[in-house]
Amino acid sequence: MNIHTYEKAWLAVAMVLIVGFIATITYGAVGPGIAMIDDDGGTIDPDKINDDERFSDPGVTHVGGNEYEASIVAQAWSYTPGEITVPANSKVTFYVTSRDVTHSYTVVGTNVNTMVVPGQVSQMTAEFNETGEYGVLCNEYCGQYHHTMEGKINVVPEDEFDLTELSTDAPDEAQVGNQTTINATVSNGMNYDLEPTATLEIDDQTIEQDVTVPAHGSETVEFAVDTTDLGTGDHDWTVTVDGHEDGDTLTVTNATEGGDGDA
Ligand code: CUA
Repeated sequence: MNIHTYEKAWLAVAMVLIVGFIATITYGAVGPGIAMIDDDGGTIDPDKINDDERFSDPGVTHVGGNEYEASIVAQAWSYTPGEITVPANSKVTFYVTSRDVTHSYTVVGTNVNTMVVPGQVSQMTAEFNETGEYGVLCNEYCGQYHHTMEGKINVVPEDEFDLTELSTDAPDEAQVGNQTTINATVSNGMNYDLEPTATLEIDDQTIEQDVTVPAHGSETVEFAVDTTDLGTGDHDWTVTVDGHEDGDTLTVTNATEGGDGDA
């Protein structure tokens, strides 16, 4: 059988095209290192999300070095937490699950995008090299207010990033002559111990205490306050730890009054 030269040429061109298409698809799938979303994140009972270690207190935690984990719960029609903050030059692994129906976690303007299916934990890793704000939205139709379902990722300079939190607990009122205590709890989201100094300022007194806060833990500092030194009346106080500040007012009342703190 004689095949015309032109026909042979076209056959050759067709073969080259087919091989080219297969090569392109293969390269697209494995070449640039794009990982497909899979079920690595595991499964979860959507009714027991609050009992889950990862999702009971969702948010950003430090894994080590420049690596962080962000656990996020989606529900109609919001994300918890709605807004997260990570440092620049970080590698963040997202774990996202849904409490109710199928949503998505889509970071606008990037290729970070996953379906969020109840019962499944979606896992994906992204690198954030530049500071800025990224919008997050849901692109799986999930009901009446689907279009309002949004979140935010703030990427801040590394030296501004901080997972330390300070909260205080103190009585509003104390009787003169009694000792009272102002408690300051420092929590540390980093994967290493912190050793800050906690400072209480009340009137013109300053009390300092060194505190060791374990990695992923918290520590409470107790400041003993002598109400006799302060005298009756209102005393504003602040506790400062590593740039975090919290405060309130302590009213010292007359022992005999025991009343509303007028002095
Ligand atoms: Cu959630 Cu659409």
